[in-house]
Amino acid sequence: MVRAHGRCAAVNQVLACPHCSLPLDLTDAGATCATGHSFDRGRGGYLHLLVGGRLGPTVTSGDTPDALAARRRFLTAGHYAPIARALVEAVGVPPGPVLDVGCGEGWYLAQLSHEQAAPGERFGLDVSKAAVQMATRAHPDTQYVVGTAYRLPVLDHSVGAVISVFAPHPFAEFARVLRPGGRWVTATPGPRHLQEMRPVPQGESAQKTADRLARRSEPPPEATAAVHVEFTLELSAEVAKDLFLMTPIRWQSGARVAEAHAEAPVSASVTVDVWVSTSEPIAT
Ligand SMILES: C[S@@+](CC[C@H](N)C(=O)[O-])C[C@H]1O[C@@H](n2cnc3c(N)ncnc32)[C@H](O)[C@@H]1O
Ligand SMILES: [Zn+2]
Repeated sequence: MVRAHGRCAAVNQVLACPHCSLPLDLTDAGATCATGHSFDRGRGGYLHLLVGGRLGPTVTSGDTPDALAARRRFLTAGHYAPIARALVEAVGVPPGPVLDVGCGEGWYLAQLSHEQAAPGERFGLDVSKAAVQMATRAHPDTQYVVGTAYRLPVLDHSVGAVISVFAPHPFAEFARVLRPGGRWVTATPGPRHLQEMRPVPQGESAQKTADRLARRSEPPPEATAAVHVEFTLELSAEVAKDLFLMTPIRWQSGARVAEAHAEAPVSASVTVDVWVSTSEPIAT
C-alpha cells in the first residue's frame, strides 16, 4: 500500500475529492476532504473516487478479466517495449508526480525510472475497478484510483506529467492538472496499427473507417512533437490471441468475428504503428 504518512507527502497534494474538488487528506484507511466526504481504501490501498453519473462517453467494455489477463501476459513479455521506450523518453524528468490516465493493469507506468517518478509519486487512474485492482496487486508503490479521465479527481496544477496510452485523452483536463513546466504524453494508434487483425469494413462503415484511418495518419493536432513508432511483430498463435483479446478490435468487429478470432487464432505477422506525442510544457 502507498503510505500516506511519513514518506510520501506528494500523495496528499495531488488527489481531489470527486464531490467538491477540495484536496483529499489521505490516511492508511482512506481519504477525507474538509467538507467531510470520505472514501475507504480497497484491498491493497486503491481508492474508489468515481461518483455516479460522471462517466465519459467512451467507457469501453474492453477491460473484462480475460482482456486484462491477456494484456498482462502480452506486455510483460515485452512485445510493446519499443512503445514503452518512446514513452519513457518523451516523459523525461518531469517537475512533479506522474499520472497515468486509463492505466489498465499498470505496465507502462511501471516502466518509468525512479528518477522520473519516485515511489509515492506515481498515480494510476482507470474507470475499470478490475484494472485498478490488478494494477494495485502488481505495483504496491503506486497509488491507484478508480475514476474517470473526463473529470479527474486531481487538484489543479499538481502533477508534473500526464500519460495516456491507448486511453482517453481529454487535453483540457490534462492542462488543468499539470504543473507549470509539466507536459502530457499520449500513445495513440497510427493508420496501420494492427491492420492485419482488423475486419474489412463493409457498406457505410467503410467510409467511417477510412475517415478514421486518415485522421490517424497524423498525431493528435494538440501535440507539439511526436515520434512515430512502427515495427512488425511475429506472433505465435497463442500471443496473437492475447493481442486480439486485449484490444478494442474484439468489440469493434462484432461478436461473430471476435469469437472466430478468439477461438481459432493463427500465428501472425502484425504491424504496430503508434504515435507517441507530447504537448508543449505548460506555461510558467
Ligand atoms: C485499451 S486500454 C489501455 C490500457 C493501458 N493504458 C495499456 O495500454 O495497457 C484503455 C483503458 O482506458 C480505460 N478507460 C476507458 N474509458 C475511461 C475513462 N472515461 N476514464 C478512465 N479510464 C478509462 C479502460 O478501462 C482501459 O483500461
Ligand atoms: Zn468533498
